[in-house]
Amino acid sequence: MKHIAENLLDWFKNCSRPLPWRKSYNPYHVWISEIMLQQTQMERGVGYFTRWIARFPDVAAVARAEEQEIMKLWEGLGYYARARNLHATAKIVHAEFGGDIPCDTETLLTLPGIGPYTAAAISSIAGNVDIPVVDANVLRVFARLFDIEGNIKSGAVKKDIEQKAWELLPKGKARLYNQALMDLGGLICLPRNPRCNICPVAELCRARRQGTVNERPVKVAVEKKILIEMATGVLNKDGRLFIQQRLADDIWGGLWEFPGGGVEPGESPDEAVVREYREETGFKVTVCSKITTLTHFYTKYKVVLHCYGCRMISDTLQPLQLTAAQQYRWVFPEELSDFGFPAGHRKLLEYLNGSCPEILVDPCSEIVKN
Ligand code: ADE
Repeated sequence: MKHIAENLLDWFKNCSRPLPWRKSYNPYHVWISEIMLQQTQMERGVGYFTRWIARFPDVAAVARAEEQEIMKLWEGLGYYARARNLHATAKIVHAEFGGDIPCDTETLLTLPGIGPYTAAAISSIAGNVDIPVVDANVLRVFARLFDIEGNIKSGAVKKDIEQKAWELLPKGKARLYNQALMDLGGLICLPRNPRCNICPVAELCRARRQGTVNERPVKVAVEKKILIEMATGVLNKDGRLFIQQRLADDIWGGLWEFPGGGVEPGESPDEAVVREYREETGFKVTVCSKITTLTHFYTKYKVVLHCYGCRMISDTLQPLQLTAAQQYRWVFPEELSDFGFPAGHRKLLEYLNGSCPEILVDPCSEIVKN
């Protein structure tokens, strides 16, 4: 059993990924990297990390920032509650810990957005605290190393793997051990076509011995995504577009959008746009062009977004009554890039800029198809 950790640490000395936060293990850098890497591919995470540290070199800079700027830098990473929690944690750490991210697991667990996995990752990687980190990569590695037949998503199997990870952890070397396991999962023990021929623990791998590498971890039926149909409208008045900032406590809280919402049973998408404008802003609008239909996948949902150009029914500006947003702006098209939008609306903006920029100027113009 001991061989596994020894082989891993030897391998990690020469083959670890040259990640930017591994230069100094500055706890602030480790914290940002761990929050960004949740649900995010490594390559994407590194790009966001580098831009973030250039803009916010320390906790104080994050604590002082406007939420708007935090959300803009986070735009595209998804799961925006992470960004809001990060801001809240920075303010607490700045006010109560002199700007130093704590490295003990218990204190980390008291901070917004830090659960058991992230607390273990930060404390072991930044503080070298003896605690294992078991993420999706590590679950796969253990499922193969020990030829585990159960479902790695089940609580009992996760517990068993955590227990094994504790047993193998070499005391005083958790920083290297945890990262070696994560890198092994990310570089060698891949979900498909694992590179067993260059794996430092191939000789100790039970699945390899049993010929079951491709059946581990066991595959469980993927749940079908729930379809959600939504509609949104780009409203233009005198060359400016109406955007609103979502309420702080909803899933995309703090991000901006064109008004819209779910299409109700028996309703067409263009009727939904008219209704949503009335409900969310009090504006009476009419739909004058269909821009496109976009599809975006989330963990559990498939969102189909019907996008329209629209205009006010009468020329005089109707009184605004915001019901689904904290604030609004009328912006020129070139100002849109200053605001953070959720994925579906960002796709819409990319589509407008690339395929029919005339809609940004005149929502009722004919869409010219190339
Ligand atoms: N995934 C999450 N955190 C990581 C880290 N520090 N190294 C490699 N992969 C990771």
